[in-house]
Amino acid sequence: MKEKKQGYISFKESREIVKYNKQQIRYYEKLKKRKHIPESEYLTTMRDENNVVEFEDLCTYFFTDTGTVKAVNGVSFDIPAHSTVGVVGESGCGKSVTSLSLLRLVQAPQGQIVSGSIRYKAKNGQCYDIARVPSSIMESISGKEISMIFQEPMTSLNPVFTIGYQLDEVSLLHIEGATKQSAREKSIEMLELVGIANAEGVYKSYPHELSGGMRQRVMIAMALCCQPNLIIADEPTTALDVTIQAQILDLLRELKEKLDSSIMLITHDLGVIAEMADYVVVMYAGKVIEAGNVFEIFDNPCHPYTIGLLKSKPVINKKVDELYCIRGRVPSAVDLPDYCYFRDRCDMCKEKCAGKYPEFTYVSPTHKVACHLYDKEA
Ligand SMILES: Nc1ncnc2c1ncn2[C@@H]1O[C@H](COP(=O)(O)OP(=O)(O)OP(=O)(O)O)[C@@H](O)[C@H]1O
Ligand code: SF4
Ligand SMILES: [Mg+2]
Repeated sequence: MKEKKQGYISFKESREIVKYNKQQIRYYEKLKKRKHIPESEYLTTMRDENNVVEFEDLCTYFFTDTGTVKAVNGVSFDIPAHSTVGVVGESGCGKSVTSLSLLRLVQAPQGQIVSGSIRYKAKNGQCYDIARVPSSIMESISGKEISMIFQEPMTSLNPVFTIGYQLDEVSLLHIEGATKQSAREKSIEMLELVGIANAEGVYKSYPHELSGGMRQRVMIAMALCCQPNLIIADEPTTALDVTIQAQILDLLRELKEKLDSSIMLITHDLGVIAEMADYVVVMYAGKVIEAGNVFEIFDNPCHPYTIGLLKSKPVINKKVDELYCIRGRVPSAVDLPDYCYFRDRCDMCKEKCAGKYPEFTYVSPTHKVACHLYDKEA
């Protein structure tokens, strides 16, 4: 018999996928569009009052024509108040989708939060499950209480409006009783706060008239306009050179202290994490595989993937013939195996690794790892 080509989808399979997607999307969209969602469905309590966000077993899927992309597949971690949590992992491992789920900005209708919860402690003391909150309440949270600095400042700023117009809009939308005059004053104050020298001039400029570093500062000003509780920074320095990168990171740290906020910092760059984060979450193929405080992760990395990530980072004053790289590729998020997702790339794999996906083991009260090497009986 002729062997089936890997990744090939027959017409019949394709029709079944489309039918399944339609059913799923209809179900989740109907749930979201209900008129009167009872409070008991979305008001909840935090597991630990010192946290501002608690992700619990979050699953966010995309129902695509090639199958269900399990972009975030059972993610659990906390963001403690007044701290910086760094999220690291290879491209495509679900970092951005996790943060977009927290703002309910996942691309609908194909992208849906299918299960799990995201508990958020609001400024008014209420605790909401963001995964279930009605959109009217979400409007008062996103932008005002949780704001985001996006991965690419040029595509996030609208090229046809001035910086001032776009900044004013944030105040007019989220600050009660804001007038055109007060919004303008606030925008200029924010531009000065993020270190833009000619704030009045930049206020009147269009995005294309600014340098990359200035655009990123404008994005930060926009995100901080409403003094948010939590700032999500998705690769805030990727598009910048190292000097500007250092300035932006200093600025973020300084503003976090000033506003007493927390930061969820998403990056590929372990150097940035070491410098900025209090806690580190390592993600791989839509799952958290290791989490702990910054000292635990850098001094005692446990998961073979984390060890590989740290080994592949160049070190000044250490001469190597060839930089380490983790062999192989991340498995497809459409077709994930039942066993450890890292098994096909792991040099430390043992017999047990062909069995079921590893559970978390606590190496210390704050350090957990999902790998069979640390199973209690081992
Ligand atoms: N709108 C979408 N439709 C379908 N699949 C998507 C969509 N957005 C993201 N994905 C898939 O979800 C997975 C996770 O993507 P995500 O953007 O979270 O990765 P990431 O970890 O942020 O990567 P990077 O470091 O490159 O930004 C990827 O497999 C991606 O292909
Ligand atoms: S569970 Fe096994 S295959 Fe997976 S990372 Fe640990 S040792 Fe490697
Ligand atoms: Mg991303």
